[in-house]
Amino acid sequence: MEIKATTKIYGIFGHPVSHSLSPVMHNSAFSALGLDCVYVAFDIAPEEIGNAVQSLRTLGIKGINITIPHKESIIPHLDEIAPDAELMGAVNTVRNDDGKLTGYNTDVGGFLRAVEEDLGINPGGSSVLLMGAGGAARAVMSAFCMNGAGRICVANRTYDKALKLASEFGKQFKKIKIEPVALDDIRVIKARLAESDILVNSTSAGMEGKTAMDLPLEALKENAAVYDLIYKPRETPLVTEARRLGHRASGGLGMLLYQGALSFEIWTGREAPVDVMRKAIE
Ligand SMILES: NC(=O)c1ccc[n+]([C@@H]2O[C@H](COP(=O)([O-])OP(=O)(O)OC[C@H]3O[C@@H](n4cnc5c(N)ncnc54)[C@H](OP(=O)(O)O)[C@@H]3O)[C@@H](O)[C@H]2O)c1
Repeated sequence: MEIKATTKIYGIFGHPVSHSLSPVMHNSAFSALGLDCVYVAFDIAPEEIGNAVQSLRTLGIKGINITIPHKESIIPHLDEIAPDAELMGAVNTVRNDDGKLTGYNTDVGGFLRAVEEDLGINPGGSSVLLMGAGGAARAVMSAFCMNGAGRICVANRTYDKALKLASEFGKQFKKIKIEPVALDDIRVIKARLAESDILVNSTSAGMEGKTAMDLPLEALKENAAVYDLIYKPRETPLVTEARRLGHRASGGLGMLLYQGALSFEIWTGREAPVDVMRKAIE
């Protein structure tokens, strides 16, 4: 990659950000298509987000991904918010059109494409058991609610957060039955496992260095699929156990890949070279 006076700059704002796979993924895509673009990581302290956003306009940075902890706090600093980002209350992609900054959320589309490609899941009418109620869970909720899921049970360690998420989405999607449950309410968890078409883990339990959840997976409905948003390790204990019990199961690398591909397409208007990007992050 040759950096020239004409090279367009893209990047990611996060804190911390040194672990991010986005630079390697996007730079591989830029070089595969021969685009005069480069992608870099910027570690932005929480109190500096407003100044960092202004720098996009000042320096003419063309696009930026947003990760923890800025996905919500960036919103007041942008000029326009796309509908899915509005619903989620979180932005992970910004496009700069001559100083006008528009915020998008590609986590929703990335998740949908990953479950479709990796597990053959169509959210319409499905019964979902969603573990977790943090930022990633909001993306999963939005994806299922906007695509006509039949029923969603949100299970979280801190029950109040499950309740808040369920009631917020319940008010907007009145036809979908959305139920909060405490993660340690094993009786209800077992019952929901037995009737769900898809189990999604959006907690950080099971990440490298963290203990996985102790779920009674034997209760999971026959033919149900399991999607774990965690991609480090590539195969989590949840995915291993689900496969051992004969279920289709996938880790979260696909979601990372497709949210990146969608950001790439928003910025460049070109079809993302998904195979190249996948190879780069693998
Ligand atoms: N594949 C992708 O592209 C992608 C995208 C986004 C996120 N992710 C992954 O998704 C995970 C969650 O991210 P996030 O942004 O939603 O984080 P977050 O906002 O901090 O939420 C973390 C969630 O995990 C729960 N949790 C943490 N430790 C737990 C434990 N030991 N047992 C049960 N629940 C536990 C929390 O419950 P409490 O509310 O009780 O604390 C909360 O619901 C991370 O592993 C992240 O890497 C993947």
